[in-house]
Amino acid sequence: MDALVVARSVAVVTGAGMSAESGVPTFRGAGGLWRQFRPEDLATPEAFARNPALVWEWYWWRRRKIADARPNPGHVTIAHFESRFPEFVVLTQNVDGLHQDAGSRRLLELHGNIWRARCTREPGRIIDERGRPIPDVDLDTPAVAPALPTCEACGALLRPDIVWFGEPLDQAALDSAAAAVRTCDVLFVVGTSAVVYPAAGLPGLAKRHGAVVIEVNVDETPFTREADIVLEGPSGVVLPEIEARL
Ligand code: OAD
Repeated sequence: MDALVVARSVAVVTGAGMSAESGVPTFRGAGGLWRQFRPEDLATPEAFARNPALVWEWYWWRRRKIADARPNPGHVTIAHFESRFPEFVVLTQNVDGLHQDAGSRRLLELHGNIWRARCTREPGRIIDERGRPIPDVDLDTPAVAPALPTCEACGALLRPDIVWFGEPLDQAALDSAAAAVRTCDVLFVVGTSAVVYPAAGLPGLAKRHGAVVIEVNVDETPFTREADIVLEGPSGVVLPEIEARL
């Protein structure tokens, strides 16, 4: 942990496990969303083209699950880190907005944000839907779907502002993320199964450029053997412990 004490530049890659203690389901592992649902039905551009109502229903269902979630002590610690290190950035795969709710401002959302929608005709038109009523849908009994959201400017269908399987990440965000991990002294890899690329490639990139990489996870991942330090445990417990020792 000495590396952290002297670090000037720190980055953090986060995944769904980061929000698990806030009650947000992860994707893989016990209770994970991909155990219950098929990504190819719900999280691809083809799925949306085929059945936009089904895809919107799933995102409304997830919004409802996330709506009452609050940042956990792990998010709060990461927000504190921002003022502790001269250079600091969070590179999150999460779409729940909990890092921002905890106070993080230096953050790149690599996979989008579940509270935003965007126009399918003009992708640059982003709509913040946080605070708007979330339709109440029952995924087990698909009834008549509520009207799908449309763009106020042009009337085209809106889609969730999420990066789906088969879609590229925003290139500028990815370039910034890669630059951050190439130059950081310490990289934390928190609560990610480290299997979804390109985000899963960031820890290896950091290592090749000389960073000390610290993995925080309740389980092993494909990256665990490469990590310099492995802290096994829930991030909401492990991260505050690290902060207390700094
Ligand atoms: P996963 O669900 O694949 O992995 C969650 C990780 O968190 C696992 O390694 C768990 O062991 C770990 N974990 C669970 N609870 C934890 C806790 N309390 N503290 C620390 N670790 C914990 O989630 P991601 O790696 O984020 O993409 O998944 C990557 C992407 O795949 C997601 O962004 C999503 C998904 O399909 C899109 O939707 C585009």
